[in-house]
Parts: sequence; C-alpha cells; structure tokens
Amino acid sequence: VDHLEPNEKVLVGCIGGSGLYHLDNLTFVKKLDITTPWGKPSSPITISSLPSGDLIAFISRHGENHTITPTEVPVRANISALKHLGIEAIIAFSAVGSLREEIEPGHFIIPNQIIDRTKGIRQDTFFRNEGIVVHSMFGEPFSKKLSEFISPKVENILKKVSDGKVKVHTEKTVVCMEGPAFSTRAESLMYRQWGGDIINMSVIPEAKIAREAELDYTLICTSTDFDAWRIGEAPVTVEEVIKTLHTNAGNSRAVAEGILQDVVDVVKEGKVLNEIKGSMKYACITRL
Ligand code: ADE
Repeated sequence: VDHLEPNEKVLVGCIGGSGLYHLDNLTFVKKLDITTPWGKPSSPITISSLPSGDLIAFISRHGENHTITPTEVPVRANISALKHLGIEAIIAFSAVGSLREEIEPGHFIIPNQIIDRTKGIRQDTFFRNEGIVVHSMFGEPFSKKLSEFISPKVENILKKVSDGKVKVHTEKTVVCMEGPAFSTRAESLMYRQWGGDIINMSVIPEAKIAREAELDYTLICTSTDFDAWRIGEAPVTVEEVIKTLHTNAGNSRAVAEGILQDVVDVVKEGKVLNEIKGSMKYACITRL
C-alpha cells in the first residue's frame, strides 16, 4: 500500500540509524511503499501502533539491510514522505563516536548543536535550482522544546533498564563528517578543540531538511566508540562499532517504546511545536 486510510492519523515519526532497523517491540500495522518527488525513502515506512492505538511511522535510514551509505541517504525523500503522512515531530536515532572521556560506549546523548563537516556533496535543501531563494533559521538546529521534553524521560527509562549503567548526556555538540573513512587522529583532536563532543555521519542534512519542512526534530545518539583521539589507544574500527551496536539498539527500542506515547500526546496538545511550525514563513527572499 502507498497511503494511510482517512481514520489513520500519524503524528510522530522515528528514523532508525545503524543497528536500529525496526521497532519490533511495537505492534505492526502496515508497510507503506511511497515515492516522493525526491525519489523513494531509504526503506518502506512501517506504521506501528502503541498500546493506546496511536500510530507511529518508522524509516530505517540506511535501509532495512543497511545497504545505504551516509552520503547516499535520500534525506529529502525520507523527510518529505514523513511530512506527507502528516507527521509533526521526528525522533531520530544515530550511532556516534565519542570525543570525550566521560561519554563512554553505550551512553546516550541528546545533542543541542552541530558542526557540519560534510563535504557539500549531499542534497541539503529542497530549494536548490527551484527558482526561489530561501534561507532557513538554523542557529538552534534541533527542536529545543522536544529535546528538553524527552531528555528526563530517556534518562528514567535507561536508569530502569540498565540499573543506572547507561548515562544520558545533554547539551552536547555533534560533529557531522562525510565519511566513509573515519577521522584521522589529527582531525579527531581538532574536533575536540572546536568543542565537538560526539561525531557521526548522518545528522546533516537530516536536521536541515527537517527544519525546511517545519518539523520538530530531535536526535537520540548512542555512543559506540572513542573515535581516534585517544593517544595510546587504537582508533575506531567497524568491528568496535558493531560490538556495542546490538546493546545500544536494544536500549534504543526500550527508549522509543517508553517515550513515544508521551511525544504523541504533547504533539496533540500542540505545545512543543510552537518554535518550528511557521518558521519558514519569511524564509523566502526572492521568487525568480
Ligand atoms: N559513527 C559511529 N562512530 C563514529 C565515528 N567514530 N565517527 C563517525 N561516525 C561514527
């Protein structure tokens, strides 16, 4: 199928990163095979229901079998497909490397800033070559209210499921690099000097495109490694990343299961959305 029925309302979308390819602890409703003007999303969109009957949409960012590299993720298709379904808020998940001693593998991070180190080869706007000049506001790249709303809930859930072992760090800066190679030691050390706390390959352009679509967007990061900056330690390898990916995915599912109803409820109330909705109203300078 390629559409929702008129009685099926979906207000919240989830994007799963490396390791999180399904939310199989929710009740499966249907899979949507959608094509957008920007092509097909990374994966079919899985619609699942919470115990209340409220529906959630899920996309696997790298495809259901991890076949899409961070550079090739069809971000505009993913975001526009979610927008088209009527979604107002996105909870995205991402595996990250840690640039700080205190952010250990297995920990969760809800960042509030981004340093963009992608290389200009990703489609990072809906408005290039469209006969229109548009600048979106991006000083606060995440939905502050949504991030602050979920942070204590994520913390509580992880405290319960991990006996206090999995910490949650907030107000951190995520560096987004192009890849596919991981960073050199010199780059990793430089990112620390710049104020970077964690590093991934996916938050750009996802956060930008979500902003252009006026969607509340927040990122829940799971740390898999210490990147390359630790003198005397071997730099990150895929093997190391995969080691923690499984545990992190289990914890991410528990977090999703635990917060999604609250997010749906707050979206319904219309309270977290005030900052982003309407933010593009004056973003257009010129129509050519
Ligand atoms: N994703 C997970 N670990 C990473 C790292 N060290 N660098 C970039 N992306 C990552």
